[in-house]
Amino acid sequence: MKQKIYIFDTTLRDGEQSPGAKLNTDQKVELATQLEKLGVDIIEAGFPISSPGDFQSVVQLSKTIKNCVICGLTRARKEDIDIAVKALESAKRPRIHTGIGASDVHIKYKFKSTHEKVLSQGVEAVTYAKKFIEEVEFYAEDAGRADSKFLAKMVYEVIKAGATVVNIPDTTGYCFPEEFGAKIKFIFENVPNIHKAVISVHCHNDLGMAVANTLSGVFNGARQVEVTVNGIGERAGNTSLEEIVMAIYTRRDNLLYYTDIKTAEIAKTSKLVSQIMGIPVQPNKAIVGANAFAHSSGIHQDGVLKRRENYEIIDPKLVGVEASKIILTARSGRAALRHRLESLGFNLSQSEINLVYQNFLQLADMKKEIYDDDLLYLMGQKKTGKNQKVKLDLIQVICGNKNIPTATVKISVSGKIKEAVATGDGPIDAGFNAIDKCIGKKYKLIQFLIQAATIGSDAVAKVNISIEHNRKTFIGVGTNTDTIVAAALSYIDAINKFV
Ligand code: KIV
Ligand code: ZN
Repeated sequence: MKQKIYIFDTTLRDGEQSPGAKLNTDQKVELATQLEKLGVDIIEAGFPISSPGDFQSVVQLSKTIKNCVICGLTRARKEDIDIAVKALESAKRPRIHTGIGASDVHIKYKFKSTHEKVLSQGVEAVTYAKKFIEEVEFYAEDAGRADSKFLAKMVYEVIKAGATVVNIPDTTGYCFPEEFGAKIKFIFENVPNIHKAVISVHCHNDLGMAVANTLSGVFNGARQVEVTVNGIGERAGNTSLEEIVMAIYTRRDNLLYYTDIKTAEIAKTSKLVSQIMGIPVQPNKAIVGANAFAHSSGIHQDGVLKRRENYEIIDPKLVGVEASKIILTARSGRAALRHRLESLGFNLSQSEINLVYQNFLQLADMKKEIYDDDLLYLMGQKKTGKNQKVKLDLIQVICGNKNIPTATVKISVSGKIKEAVATGDGPIDAGFNAIDKCIGKKYKLIQFLIQAATIGSDAVAKVNISIEHNRKTFIGVGTNTDTIVAAALSYIDAINKFV
C-alpha cells in the first residue's frame, strides 16, 4: 500500500525569510487560503515572538484556515512557546514547532553551550509546549552537520518528552543525498521509540541538492517534507514544493508514496507567491518556470508536435499550465511554423510554407524570438501606422486620488472622427472604455503588460496587449513616454488586426 507523504509548507515562514519577501497579515491570509486550496497538510504560519506583525498573522491564519494544521515556530524557550500558544489559540489543529541546534558548531559557537545542556533545553521545551498543545514538532537545527549518535540521542529524548514529529533539518544545505539518506536511516535504526513520531526532513539548497536530499530522506523513512512554493527561502532557498510533489507523482510507478496536493493548483500558487512576494521565478525553474514547458529547437518542436511525450514527462495541464509552448526562433523548423500559423488562422500548403519559411528564417536571424505579431507581418497582415483603419487622435484622462478616472478619446475610423467619454477602474481602463464606446463594441482583455523600455521616471513605456475578437486572440503593442497613451495605442493596434 502507498504511504502518504505529509506536505509541511513553510513558504510563509522560511520562505518569507527571503530578502524582500516580507508580507503583511492580509497578504499572508490570501496566500494561506491558496495553500489550503492546493492541499498542503501543514502551514507554518510564522514565528510569533519575532514581531507583532508575525504574531498577528499567526492569529489570523488560525482563525481563517480550517483544513490545515497551523504551526508556529519557536526557539526552545518558554517565552517563545507562551506567545506561540497564544497566537495559535483559535486554530482547529495547532502545532508548536520548537527546537535547538544539534551540530557541534552550533552548540559551541552559537549557544556557547554543551551537548548535555542543549539536550536538556530541547527536552524541557517539548515538555513545556506539550502542556498546552498536543502536536509538538521538534527541530534539531543543523542536523545535517551534527554527529549522528548525538542526533539519535536527541531524537530519542524529545520523542520521550512527547514530540509527535521530529524534524531533521539540513539547515546549511551541506549534505549529499546519500549522506543525508544514511543519516535518516541511522536514526530509524538507532532510536528505539522512533515509531512514536513522524520523521520530517527540512532541506536547504546551498549546494542545489535540497530536493534530492529531501527525496533521499523520504526513501529512508521520513514521512513529512518541509517545503516552500518556488523553493524560496533563507539564502539559496528551501526544497521546492512543486518539484517534490511532481517527482513523487511522475515516478509513481516506481514509488510507494503519494501526496494529497491538488497539482492543478500548482501554477496558480506559484504565480501568487511570485507576485505577492515580489520574487520572479527563474525561467528555467522546474515545473513552474516560464520555459518548463517551452520547446525551442526544431528537433524538439517537431517531436512534441508529433507526440507530446517525446519531450515532456509531465502534461502541463496537470500542474495548471494550459499548454506547452512552441517558441519560434531561428532554430525552429517548418512544423513549428505551420503550427503557429494555423493557430493564427492561416492554413497553408507545403509550398506556401516553404516560401514563408525562408522569410521567417531571415527575420529570425535578426531577432531572438518570433512573436505572433511578427508572423502577421510576414503574412502581410500587419498594417503599419500609415494604413491603419483605426487611429488615435486624442486621449485625455482625469484621475488621481480624489477623482473617478475619466477619459476623453477621439479616434478616426476609416477617416471618420468619433469621440467618447468614459469612466473606468483606473485611467487605462477608462481609456479602453472610451475607445470601446467610439467603436461600439467591448473587447475582452486577455493579457496586458507594461514595461519600461528605457530607464528613469521619463522612461518610454511599452505596452503589450492581447484581446479577444470572434474567439480569436489579437495582439497589439504601443510605445510612448506616457503610459496611458502607450496603452491606448496598443489597444488600437490590436483592434486594427481585425477591423
Ligand atoms: O533550516 C532550519 O533549520 C530551520 C529550522 C528553524 C527548522 O528553518
Ligand atoms: Zn530552514
